Amino acid sequence: MHLFDYTRETVSLDGEWEAIPDQYEVFEEHPIANSFALPQAPEDDLLNFDVDDGYSIQVPSCLGEAVPEFRHYEGWVWYTRRFTWSGPRDADRTFLRFGAVNYEATVWLNGERLGSHEGGYTPFAFEVTDYLEEGDNVLVVRADNERREDGVPDEQTDWFNFGGIQRSVELVPVPETFIRNYKVETTLADGQVDVRVSAWTDGPDAGDSVSVRLPELDREAELSSVGDGRYSTELSLQTDAVTLWSPTSPRLYRIVLECGADAIEDRIGLRDVRVRDGEVLLNGERLWLRGVSLHEEAAGKGRALDATDVETRFQWLNELDCNFARLAHYPHTREMARTADEEGILLWEEVPAYWDVDFGDDDVQELYRQQLRELVQRDWNRPSVLLWSIANETDHEDATRNRVLPEIAEFVRKLDDSRLVTAACFADEIDDGVVVQDSLVDSLDVIGINEYYGWYHGDAADIAAFRGHPDGIPVIVSEVGAGAKWGHHGPEDQRWTEEFQAAVYRDQIDAIEDNEQISGMTPWVLFDFRSPSRQNPYQRGYNRKGLLDQRGRKKKAFYLLEEFYRDENE
Ligand code: GCU
Repeated sequence: MHLFDYTRETVSLDGEWEAIPDQYEVFEEHPIANSFALPQAPEDDLLNFDVDDGYSIQVPSCLGEAVPEFRHYEGWVWYTRRFTWSGPRDADRTFLRFGAVNYEATVWLNGERLGSHEGGYTPFAFEVTDYLEEGDNVLVVRADNERREDGVPDEQTDWFNFGGIQRSVELVPVPETFIRNYKVETTLADGQVDVRVSAWTDGPDAGDSVSVRLPELDREAELSSVGDGRYSTELSLQTDAVTLWSPTSPRLYRIVLECGADAIEDRIGLRDVRVRDGEVLLNGERLWLRGVSLHEEAAGKGRALDATDVETRFQWLNELDCNFARLAHYPHTREMARTADEEGILLWEEVPAYWDVDFGDDDVQELYRQQLRELVQRDWNRPSVLLWSIANETDHEDATRNRVLPEIAEFVRKLDDSRLVTAACFADEIDDGVVVQDSLVDSLDVIGINEYYGWYHGDAADIAAFRGHPDGIPVIVSEVGAGAKWGHHGPEDQRWTEEFQAAVYRDQIDAIEDNEQISGMTPWVLFDFRSPSRQNPYQRGYNRKGLLDQRGRKKKAFYLLEEFYRDENE
């Protein structure tokens, strides 16, 4: 179960660490990893590897961005952080939490091997209560961003494989019995909002001492044990006594959960999400999703975004008059969903089950479920999260994939049935139109189709022939777009010009706008991003389908999409 710590008092270990690349994996017997005291060599300068004398690096960061000589490095990196612990006296237990390490992390504290975690974009934590020392401590992390055939994702992606400790590291002191995580599910029915509140305790039996308060609504309740450390209750609120959360009114309410000596608080939104008769409904109102896709990348920082980077991408989303965004192709920093809650932007979130992941491998399936569980349990209280996406452009003619992915869709619903399940699928051309022939869609609440008419094939207006799903499952165009190098101009039939890209957007928008079968779109992509497989003279290591370039300079197509969304929103 995810360790909720967002509003807890934590001790940050961000800041200056030492990092030593170990491409030939020769430092496996890393002296400090396996024993606290570094054996003193006869002459220290004979050592080829001294944990305290690596490349000084800021954490969080991406190695190749922080230490340019390792811009294209993939492999082991030994990170070391010495710190003095004089943690809160009243903390009975302490956890060590990582926001994300790409791709696999193995962690030692004071020579004790705490464990390892695979998956480059989701949080993980180890209990360190028994390993923390009063005074000096040494934390060692071996981060390995080598791409792998049995990974999620596998070796082939259309994004750059930034490595390192990319999100924050902190110590989380907690009481002996504490609330590990909580969950709020809200549904609208008969003029009232039903709010189911669950909490998971960790530690000796909490008895019947778990309670919830919604101070602004003057409501509180006791949660009852339902076994396995889970507690639950249901509150009903009169709809006219609350402000429902929506893009036009992103009202958040304070929630406080208490259990004995422990208390956590957060901000939640009350809203109802469902699909009906081919439409996506929020609080019973039909939604047309004015979105855009984006990677998690900032020039010079890789994926280690800071608050200003998050703020900048929401400025662009608001300039476009978006009410929706697709956070592709992996879990982004938790600040994105928290900011989307405040800004009123609905989200599509996903794990990197991308292209040719080996779905038949049992370990891959376990890793796939692990990453989904870590994402869902981190963000399942965010009102902005509308869709959990389970895959992107996976082979709909592969029998194993067609067996496994419907099971995964059910796995996600068991984790959280208060949101919708989707996937980005291919659209197929048949004699008299464009359809989705992917059997997976029967397991989805909303179908995403990635179509590149006007760029990879056909003419941009061909999407007009899209016939929707026979059973009326709502469809959104999860990718559509064209490449352009910012500042490169020419006639609109000349590829890679801003004019060509704008013409594709113009014709696609005209066709999509008139197609009743389509409930929204997230064009590919908000800004240019690094991709090693994009190397023609216009690309030079970047995918250039951005509406802005990697430096935030707008291309002509940005203004076309902005105009369409503003008209749509009138
Ligand atoms: C694919 C894929 C994206 C990729 C894009 C492109 O559909 O989902 O990750 O970047 O198309 O070709 O640019």
